[in-house]
Amino acid sequence: MVTIVVGTQWGDEGKGKVIDFLAAGHQLIARYQGGSNAGHTVVVNGKRYIFHLIPSGILHQGVECLLGNGVVIDPVSLETELQTLEKEGIPYAGRLWISENSHVTLPSHKALDKMEDRFRGKGMLGTTGRGIGTTYADKSARIGIRMVDFIKPEVFRAKLEINLQLKNYLFKKYYETDDIFQVDRIIEDYAPLAERLRPMVRDTAYYLNDALKSGRNLLCEGAQGTFLDIDFGTYPYVTASNSIAGGACTGLGLGPTRINRVIGVAKAYTTRVGEGPFPTEIAGVFGDRFRDLGAEYGATTGRPRRCGWFDSVLVRYSGIINGLDELFITKLDVLSNLPSIKLATAYELNGARFDRPPLNFQDFSSIKPVYEEMEGWQTDLSGIRAWKQLPVNARRYLDRIEELCQVPISTISFGPDRAQTLSRA
Ligand code: IMP
Repeated sequence: MVTIVVGTQWGDEGKGKVIDFLAAGHQLIARYQGGSNAGHTVVVNGKRYIFHLIPSGILHQGVECLLGNGVVIDPVSLETELQTLEKEGIPYAGRLWISENSHVTLPSHKALDKMEDRFRGKGMLGTTGRGIGTTYADKSARIGIRMVDFIKPEVFRAKLEINLQLKNYLFKKYYETDDIFQVDRIIEDYAPLAERLRPMVRDTAYYLNDALKSGRNLLCEGAQGTFLDIDFGTYPYVTASNSIAGGACTGLGLGPTRINRVIGVAKAYTTRVGEGPFPTEIAGVFGDRFRDLGAEYGATTGRPRRCGWFDSVLVRYSGIINGLDELFITKLDVLSNLPSIKLATAYELNGARFDRPPLNFQDFSSIKPVYEEMEGWQTDLSGIRAWKQLPVNARRYLDRIEELCQVPISTISFGPDRAQTLSRA
């Protein structure tokens, strides 16, 4: 059985918590794209854990975690997470695997990422600066360094020499900086990290497919969200990988016929970090209040997130692109104090109405959302243990989301802890 968990908005929908909630019924959890730009926050017994690369499922004993070929791996970031696991007494030997074909992020990728974004000037993307786009660019340019190369010292050196020759030329001649990278220095710093990772590196596609054949359940963990997808997102304000559900096939080596269930995660409102269009964004003091209510600060960069109303045009489109079977709504509690709540039902441009997002950036930046306003519930949700205990107006809000997005809501979350989650059943 293979289940994919995917973000339906601009990331930060609370997928870490969803994965953690579902982990118990699975033996394997795999990341299929992205890198340390992601930040999954999970709270267990009041303790807060943030992971950037390792699936949050690692907190569940008996679950194996895997980073697929579609993931880009910064060994320094991964090492920090391994040290956290060690400090917390969470064993990972024999239960954390890395694809031989995943690509390695080096300091040159991070430096170039920051430099490129600065040079974009007004067209700045506001990347996380984690070297994500530049690692994927090397992958496509066929000069990337894969994990299988990284763990073999002589291959790593040979590939690094070619890669840095090109990068240093760019740094010196185009960006006119003297900050160039030395092969020996990187090898000295990264060889011990390669040593540490070597026992975890394997042919993960074979491993996963064999595991499925023997009846084990796999949960595929998407990072970022549908509207940050390189093909279907608000290009160019997107990340550099396929974050949609289809990315699980190419990012893990799974045939499409293996996928059984796709769960879309949507926040009860909308947030976005970085630049790019955001039709339902709330500006000013009310937007700031929203940010504080939801503690909306990036788990990776600490940047304040932009906040806005729920946009059913986006989530409806996500339902189609991802083939969603169900929706998992998170952070419902954040809306609890509001006397009234808006949600976007359609868009308007030059007097015409649309029920789907425009695919060109110019139109996307100019459209205006059409809102519907609903009465809030103004009741604390923390004690809720059954669907019928939900305030009537909260149920109305959820029913309306379901109707507009044309995907059934299976589960809601109304607080950071595992216990603050409710399935509809
Ligand atoms: P990059 O992925 O670092 O190249 O950044 C590209 C865009 O994606 C920027 O707007 C980032 O803020 C955004 N982004 C990347 N990862 C995440 C995430 O995990 N959550 C939300 N936004 C993200």
